[in-house]
Amino acid sequence: MRDVAREAGVSIATVSRVVNGVDAVAESTRRRVLEAIRRLNYSPNLVAKSLVHRGTRNVALFVPDIMNPFFPAIARGVADAVASEGYTVVLCNTDDSTEPGPHFERLLRGNFVDGAILCGTAWDAAPLSELIPADLPVVVMDRRVPGLRADSVEIDNRLGGLMATRHLLDVGCRRILHLGGPVGVSTAEGRLAGYLEALCSGAADERDAAEADSDLITRGPFRAESGYSRTRAALESGLSFDGIFAANDLLALGALQALRQFGRRVPEDVAVIGFDDIYMAALALPPLSTVAQPTYRLGTIAGRMLMDRLDRSASPAQPPAHPQPEPKRVVLEPSLRIRESTRRERVQGSEEE
Ligand code: RIB
Repeated sequence: MRDVAREAGVSIATVSRVVNGVDAVAESTRRRVLEAIRRLNYSPNLVAKSLVHRGTRNVALFVPDIMNPFFPAIARGVADAVASEGYTVVLCNTDDSTEPGPHFERLLRGNFVDGAILCGTAWDAAPLSELIPADLPVVVMDRRVPGLRADSVEIDNRLGGLMATRHLLDVGCRRILHLGGPVGVSTAEGRLAGYLEALCSGAADERDAAEADSDLITRGPFRAESGYSRTRAALESGLSFDGIFAANDLLALGALQALRQFGRRVPEDVAVIGFDDIYMAALALPPLSTVAQPTYRLGTIAGRMLMDRLDRSASPAQPPAHPQPEPKRVVLEPSLRIRESTRRERVQGSEEE
């Protein structure tokens, strides 16, 4: 670092700030330091850094279902954001557990990681607050954990549900089956609230009485098999519906398979829309319309939030007595991706792919 500082004509502290991604460095100085780093082929010694910081340089990322492509897309964003600060992600699959198990406790209390991101976990605040060491920063993303004091980033799920359902109404659907997510999970509840709002709002009345019927609402796990079996059960029971709003893309993919087996044409007989925009949505037959989440961005924001907290707890300028700032909450907007599974007629005001 001394050599880099000399080469760039700056102090060692400035080199350290650039290497650690701290913002308070003028752009021209940052560029000079990076150029010197490149010329001298300098690579920060992470082991030495961890000795100085007494940290592990690992952060844990908890996800509920690693088989759902939504979560690897998030993990990529997190990994990129923390890698630029010399951190590595330890990925932990909770398998949709309803409470943090011994694995969680071991990892967080055993000094294996410097911080954690809880993504899509459906755990209550009380056991979490007891298990998370007071000085270990935690960020919550995707699903909310009411009562937990932590930075958080999510999308507006109610708005997403509203957009999906309004789109189905726009293409002429009047009885929309909702394949909802698990009861009590904030993302599932938000999407259902948006669905009901679209059906119950005055706008829906004008579109000659679309029906909000409790028989049309089903709840269950966010998995393809569940979308398949629930759609199949609805078809077998003779329930009439001409649209499906699935609370995630995996549910929608399962629904497409059941509709195909029952000889229902998509979108002519039943228009189908999902949620997330996982890479498989565009590959489905027919390609699946969906509400897209800015997955990579969600990941980078969560990673950045965690790095900011870690910077503060490590910075000598912020003695431990200095209170951490209030938790931040970031809410991003989803967007509509229209593909063949709902393309019945020209739709106004929607984003076409
Ligand atoms: O946990 C499953 C779902 O919740 C994902 O598919 C995504 O929609 C997330 O918000």
